[in-house]
Amino acid sequence: MLSRQDYIDFLLDHYQNPRHHGKIENAEVVRPGGNPGCGDVITLYLKVDPETEKLSELTFEGEGCTISQASTSVLTEMVEGMTLTEIEDMGHDDLLDTLGRDVVMSRPRCAMLSLDTLKSAVREYRQQQRQAEAARGE
Ligand code: FES
Repeated sequence: MLSRQDYIDFLLDHYQNPRHHGKIENAEVVRPGGNPGCGDVITLYLKVDPETEKLSELTFEGEGCTISQASTSVLTEMVEGMTLTEIEDMGHDDLLDTLGRDVVMSRPRCAMLSLDTLKSAVREYRQQQRQAEAARGE
């Protein structure tokens, strides 16, 4: 079982060496998210395989506290290869458990900025698809 210190080290590693960091130039969705309480921000870049509805690429940029940025990096690894429905079904607990509940529980808004922004990015993708279908007369 991981100790509290293990979780802290895990988060610091993700903060210092963020995974999937950067822009995707031809992303289907570019979704900013922010925490109004503190001004910390992230931007997610998504590409989706339309056939399988699996995330084919997810990257991020951001500026903010250790937990918000580490959480976003961890999330990009957690959801690799997931379908949009699997992401829609993810709950806050799934992410909290991975981040280390004891460590991030006192800062839930920092921890959940990543997942909440990803869910709104998925909603935006769905809406784009519906609009495209409507435009094609489907
Ligand atoms: Fe702003 Fe953590 S203090 S997201």
